[in-house]
Amino acid sequence: MVHEPGTSKFQIDLRRHLREQNICDNLIHLICEIAEAGKYVINAVRTGDLGVAGTSNLYGEEQLALDVLSDRIIRKRLVHSGVVSSILSEEMDDVLRVKPAEDGLYSVAYDPLDGSSLVDVNLAVGTIVSIYSGSELLQKGRNQVAALYILYGPRVSLVYSVGKGVHEFTMNHLMEYTLTRENVTMQPSGNIYAPGGLRNQYSDGVERFVRYLEAKGAKLRYSGGFVPDINQILMKGKGLFMYPALNGAPEGKLRLLFELNPMAFLMEQAGGAASNGRMPILDICPEGLDQRAPVFIGCREDVEKALEFITEG
Ligand code: AHG
Ligand code: MN
Ligand code: MN
Repeated sequence: MVHEPGTSKFQIDLRRHLREQNICDNLIHLICEIAEAGKYVINAVRTGDLGVAGTSNLYGEEQLALDVLSDRIIRKRLVHSGVVSSILSEEMDDVLRVKPAEDGLYSVAYDPLDGSSLVDVNLAVGTIVSIYSGSELLQKGRNQVAALYILYGPRVSLVYSVGKGVHEFTMNHLMEYTLTRENVTMQPSGNIYAPGGLRNQYSDGVERFVRYLEAKGAKLRYSGGFVPDINQILMKGKGLFMYPALNGAPEGKLRLLFELNPMAFLMEQAGGAASNGRMPILDICPEGLDQRAPVFIGCREDVEKALEFITEG
C-alpha cells in the first residue's frame, strides 16, 4: 500500500501504519511505547539540566545528566510495557532481565541519547533502538525483527522498519507521529560522505577511498551525530557514512548492539549496505555487549568501493 503523504484526508499515524504491517500486536505495542517515551526524552533534551551526572558508563565516558535521564525514561517504559524480556542500553553495564523468556516477548538494545555531548551546542541528537524476538540480545543483527530511531532535530522524526521497508514519521503540533515518507529507498551511489574519526589515523586504503570520493565530487557532510548523519543519507537516498578502524582503535568507535546493528538493518531495508570493511555488519556474531566495529554504511556501490580500497590497501 502506497500513501502519498498529504493526499489522504486522514494523516496516517504510527499505530495505524504498524497495524498495516501484519505484525504481532505485542511488537506494535512495544514500538508505540518507545515512540511515546521519545516525547519525554524530547522534553528532557529541550529543558533538561546539562550538568554532569558524576557517574560514568562502562566505556569510561562521563555520563551527562541527559544520558542518564533519557535512559531512565525509556527503560521505565520498556519494563512496564509487559512485552519485554531483556533490556540493554549504552548506559547499562549488563543486560537487565525483565521477564523470563516466553512466547510473544521481545528484547531491546538501545542507545537512549546518541550524541548527547552535542546537546549543549544545540546540534541534533537521537535515540537508537534494536528489537529481537525472545530473550537473547547477543545474536546477529540480521535476526532483528525491528529497528528504529527518533531524531531530535529542528523537527522530531521517527524512522522504523519491521523488515518491510523503511518509513518516516514526523511529529506534528499535537505531538502525534504522522507518516511523511514511506518505503525510503537508497540510490546505488551518492555524492555525500561522512568521515568519522581522525583522518590522520586512517589506513592507507581508507585514505585512498576518501581521496576517490573527493575526486568524484562528493561533499563532506558530518555533524558528529550518528543519527542525523545517517538520517540525512537515508532521507536523501544517497551518501556514505564511515567510522573506520583507526591506527589507535582497530575496532573503530561505534557499538555493534545498539548503534550499528539497528542502523545497518534500516539501511539494508532501504536497499543500501553496511559493512565493517570485511563482512556485512548484520552478519557479525557479537561476542560482547560492548563490542565495537568499524563501519561503512550507505549506498551499496559506495560501500563496495570502500571494501575494494581496503582490500587493495
Ligand atoms: P554517543 O554520544 O552515544 O557516545 O555516540 C556518539 C557517537 C556518534 O553519535 C557519532 O557518530 C560519533 O560518536 C562521533 O564520534 P567523533 O566525535 O569521534 O567523530
Ligand atoms: Mn551512541
Ligand atoms: Mn549515547
